Amino acid sequence: MKEKLVLAYSGGLDTSVAIKWLQEKYDVDVVAVAVDVGEEKNYEEIREKALRIGAVSAYVIDAKEEFAKDFVLPALKANALYEGRYPLSAALSRPLIAKKVVEIARKEGAKAVAHGSTGKGNDQVRFEVSFMSLAPELKIVAPVREWNLSREEELEYAKVHGIPVPVRKEKPYSIDVNLWGRSIECGPLEDPQKEPPQDAFLWTVSPQEAPDEPEYIEIEFTRGEPISLNGEKLPLPTLISRLNEIGGRHGVGRIDMVENRLVGIKSREVYEAPAAIILITAHKDLEALTLSRELLHFKQNYIDTKYAELVYYGLWFSQLKECLDAFIEGAEKFVSGEVRLKLFKGSCIPVGRSSPYSLYELSLATYGEGDVFDQRLAEGFVRLWGLPYKIEGRRGK
Ligand code: ARG
Repeated sequence: MKEKLVLAYSGGLDTSVAIKWLQEKYDVDVVAVAVDVGEEKNYEEIREKALRIGAVSAYVIDAKEEFAKDFVLPALKANALYEGRYPLSAALSRPLIAKKVVEIARKEGAKAVAHGSTGKGNDQVRFEVSFMSLAPELKIVAPVREWNLSREEELEYAKVHGIPVPVRKEKPYSIDVNLWGRSIECGPLEDPQKEPPQDAFLWTVSPQEAPDEPEYIEIEFTRGEPISLNGEKLPLPTLISRLNEIGGRHGVGRIDMVENRLVGIKSREVYEAPAAIILITAHKDLEALTLSRELLHFKQNYIDTKYAELVYYGLWFSQLKECLDAFIEGAEKFVSGEVRLKLFKGSCIPVGRSSPYSLYELSLATYGEGDVFDQRLAEGFVRLWGLPYKIEGRRGK
């Protein structure tokens, strides 16, 4: 009997060619695993395709719920934005896909696992570091990185081996999609000076095409977790899909940036992530209301920034991540309440917030009736606070 290898299968050309290529090159039985993280593809077709190409078995795993609960939610609590902008949609899905692949590898008694990422991106790192953390004993193969086929050679290989290739003229983009966002790369986007063409976008309208009337929405959080939208309790995956729709209608969540990849390349990236942007904006706003200044600043500067980096760098299953999660759980204890946001022509602006644990004290903040803040105390405070700078000032530059 041949040894088994489990391949993270997307149904696309690369991983389809990989099934055959792995069989030929490594003389293994390939088990294909497609993980549904909210891409809205026809997974039954994908399963059949894998089998038709020659996989000995093919699994489809619906992981939308797990993705939302165990991957997206912790990232939301960390307000995770890589380089301050990218909500990490692709980055969050890879460790989950890796986890599922490892589970199947164990079940099937496979000795090796494989993924379809290239040698130039971040995803190879995320897959492989996750594999290494979860199953250090497994051998890892990266066919696309190894085979060195040009696009033309790959299509030729597919033709010769009877692997179905997309018939319609493909868009020139490389796209990755899940619940938390859509990433678009390559083709005309490789020129960072040029505005992305309209056809790069699928989830969002252009802000100038958005409705002329703003839309107000209200999101309720419990301990940092969004639980309802406009008063309606919703399971997290549903809440996220709804916000993708609503935000998309208003052109919210388009991101166009030059990003530093882990492998040292700068790349031009375009994203659509309406729900991610809305939820992170709302969540940050509620934290501002409910966290003390020192906790808020510490979380923003040290925890959240590190969290986003670590997700981007593929360190999801590290102990560092576990420890940051523990910190965040503590910090989120009082992050409950509601945030009202205004969506209008590409913008998403918090315009109201409330919480039973609010640290906002009107009687201290007000300049009007009922002010209880004793301004006389400020005198001594300011004198001491400024003292070192007075001494510095005396010394001169
Ligand atoms: N630049 C993003 C990241 O590194 C998007 C990657 C998209 N992956 C893909 N296979 N198209 O997370």
